[in-house]
Formats: sequence, C-alpha cells, structure tokens
Amino acid sequence: MNFELTEEQEMIRDAARDFAQRELLPGVIERDENAIYPKEQVKRLGELGFLGMLVGTEYDGGGMDTVSYVLAMEEISKVDASVSVIMSVNNSLVCWGVQKYGSEAQKEEFLKPMARGDKIGAFLLSEPEAGSDATSQRTTAVDMGDHYLVNGIKNWITSGGTASTYLLIAHTHPEKKHHGINAFLIDSNLEGISVGPHENKMGMRASDTHSVMFNNVKIPKENRLGEDGQGFKIAMKSLEGGRIGIASQALGLASGAYELALQYAQERKTFGKEIIKHQAIAFKLADMAVEIEAARYFCLKAAWLKDQGKPYGQASAMAKLYAAETAMKVTTEAVQIHGGNGYVKEYHVERLMREAKLTQIYEGTSEIQKIVISRGLMD
Ligand code: CAA
Repeated sequence: MNFELTEEQEMIRDAARDFAQRELLPGVIERDENAIYPKEQVKRLGELGFLGMLVGTEYDGGGMDTVSYVLAMEEISKVDASVSVIMSVNNSLVCWGVQKYGSEAQKEEFLKPMARGDKIGAFLLSEPEAGSDATSQRTTAVDMGDHYLVNGIKNWITSGGTASTYLLIAHTHPEKKHHGINAFLIDSNLEGISVGPHENKMGMRASDTHSVMFNNVKIPKENRLGEDGQGFKIAMKSLEGGRIGIASQALGLASGAYELALQYAQERKTFGKEIIKHQAIAFKLADMAVEIEAARYFCLKAAWLKDQGKPYGQASAMAKLYAAETAMKVTTEAVQIHGGNGYVKEYHVERLMREAKLTQIYEGTSEIQKIVISRGLMD
C-alpha cells in the first residue's frame, strides 16, 4: 500500500475542500437550524462531478478511485454532512449496484442521469421492523407474471423526498427467506408511492429523510436489478461500499471538529496563557489527532482494497466502526475545549457533535459492524 497520494487524488481533495469552504460553509448553520434541503449545493455537487465520481466514464461518471472518494467525502463532511450523506448514498448505495448488477438498458435509463447528478438516488432497505435485522423485510413484491405488485413501508430513507430513482429491496418469495428477496430500480413517482413527512432529526437536519409507502405499486419485470432472489446480496454488497462512505464522513466530522478546536485553543486565553498551553487541553488535542490519523488509515485501507479488487467488507466495517466512534469522541471533546462557546451554534462544533451521532447508527450501527467483523474473524 502506497501512503503517498497521486497528483490527481490531491487535486480532487483540494477541489472538494475549496467547494466546501466557498459554497457549503455560508448558510450551513441556517440550513441545519431550519432543516432546509441544500438544493443549490447538491446541484453544484453534481456539476463538479462528485455525485457520480465512482461511476465509470462510459456511464457519464467521473471514473475516479475510492481513495479519491474518501478524500472528497472527508473534506465535504468537515463542513456539511447533510450534503455528504446525499453524495455517499448516491455514489455507493445506488450507482454502485446499478453499475455492478444492472442491464445495459438500466444503466442507460437510471445510472447515467444519477452519475451526472441530474437525478438523485435513494436506497430503500430499512423498514419499521427491519433496521439492523435487515433480512426481516416485510415489503412484498408479488410476481404477477408481467409485473411485480409492491406493498409495504420503508423507513428513514435518505433523499426519500427528493430522489427521482429508488433502489428498492422487497420480498418476492417469503418462504425462501433472504433468498427470496429482490432489488428493483424504479422511478419515485410511480402511481401508489407516497412519501411521509420530513423527519425532524437531531443532526444532518438539512438532508431529507422520509418514510416511503407503497400501495399496490406496479413495477415492470425489466426493472428488477440482478437475478431473481439476489436482492439481499446486492443490498449487503452495496453496504460494504456505503460503509466506506460513512466512515469517511465520520472522519470528516472528527477532523473538522479537531481543526476548529485546535484553532480555538491557540486563540483562547485563560489564567494568562493560550489554553493549548494547559496540559489538560494539549493532551486532549493529542489524543484527538492520534485517533483521527488511525481512522484515516482505516478508511484509506478499505478504499485501497476496493480499488485493488480485493475483498473489503471486513475493512469497511472496521473503518466505519472506528471512524464513527472516533467522530463521537472527538466532536464531544471539541465542544469541551470550546467551553461555553462550544454550546453555541455559531461555533459549529455542537452541530458536528450532533451529526457524529448518526454515523454510529446508519448503514449499520456500531454493534452491527462488530457482528460483521467478528463473523469475519470466525471465517
Ligand atoms: N456480501 C454478500 N452476501 C452477504 C454479505 C455480504 N457482505 N453479508 C451477508 N451476506 C449474505 C450471507 O452470505 C447469507 O446468504 P447465504 O445464506 O446464501 O450464505 C445472507 O446474506 C444472510 O446473512 P446472515 O445470515 O449473516 O444474516 P443476518 O440476518 O445474521 O444479518 C447482518 C446479517 C450483517 C447483520 C445484516 O442484517 C446487516 O448488515 N444489517 C444492517 C443493515 C444496515 O446496514 N442497514 C442500513 C440501512 S441503509 C441506510 O442507512 C442508508 C441511508 O439512507 C443512509
């Protein structure tokens, strides 16, 4: 594994940093406070090629590697994780599966517009009774001969209200358990689909999270993604890459909070000196720096394995677990270092701390990552 970034990877990181500082930072507090969807910012993300950066150029994507994706996700997440989760879900949970398992017709119809950022994708796996326990899908897609008939409810769907394309997971043969689950690619405006109210969340408040209800929705046969019964495997494989995205998001939240705390500690004085000169604060910053560096290598290792075509499921679970736990610790310490100011919105760190919490929950809780890791150890 080469620890030096290529010139192209550095350029992508710098472009993401520049975009985040210039176009995401202004207004981020207001978007968070009022839960305003970052419409213009997501449009720009598409124009800059970040929404489809992992998709091959032949399908209108950026054809970039996963290491570059980690770098870009970190920079964007330092400033606005509501934007980076939209980018992560579109790239790794939706586009990846279409590129890997889709027919040429599906790639033409669904992948290209998402890779260009003209359309946004959402991943519909979770249900009220099937979050961590993902095999317990209750949404049904009954095979009616020339189409599937879908009924059920999906929950906590990122981009649920704004996405034009849904990657839907549903049960066709419940008697076959997870071998009877299918994946489908559908337009979000099909008759019978309705979207629940915007979830009023603790963090990532600007990203739109909704329930999506299916009431006798007809899905043409050709919209099934992959082979009959392959849906659960497609979902699990998609999550392996998705977890690299969320790990990088957690890394960005941690490094963003650390940078703010470091700067604050060098400016703020107590007892006649800058607070960084008090060992209590200096040691906190040292611990934060070490844990962020470790999280960064976990993320880059998982990305590198994926780019090399090697198995990366274990590495992505480790990266997500470690980076999410680090994000929670580091953002909490950043608030502590800021003292009373840390509890005030304009200093940003309280928002980063609220956002860090979600990285321990979505795309597999920290506890689920430990299941994945420990089963891998037994294998
Ligand atoms: N790749 C391929 N196949 C896999 C796999 C993987 N990574 N992981 C499991 N499978 C297969 C297994 O091989 C098995 O198939 P076979 O019987 O043919 O061997 C099948 O899937 C079932 O596996 P398990 O018996 O291990 O299933 P389980 O019920 O014990 O649970 C789990 C496995 C890993 C805990 C899984 O349920 C899981 O990952 N849960 C978390 C779900 C999750 O991450 N949800 C996030 C929602 S998405 C989201 O948050 C998006 C958003 O909007 C931001």
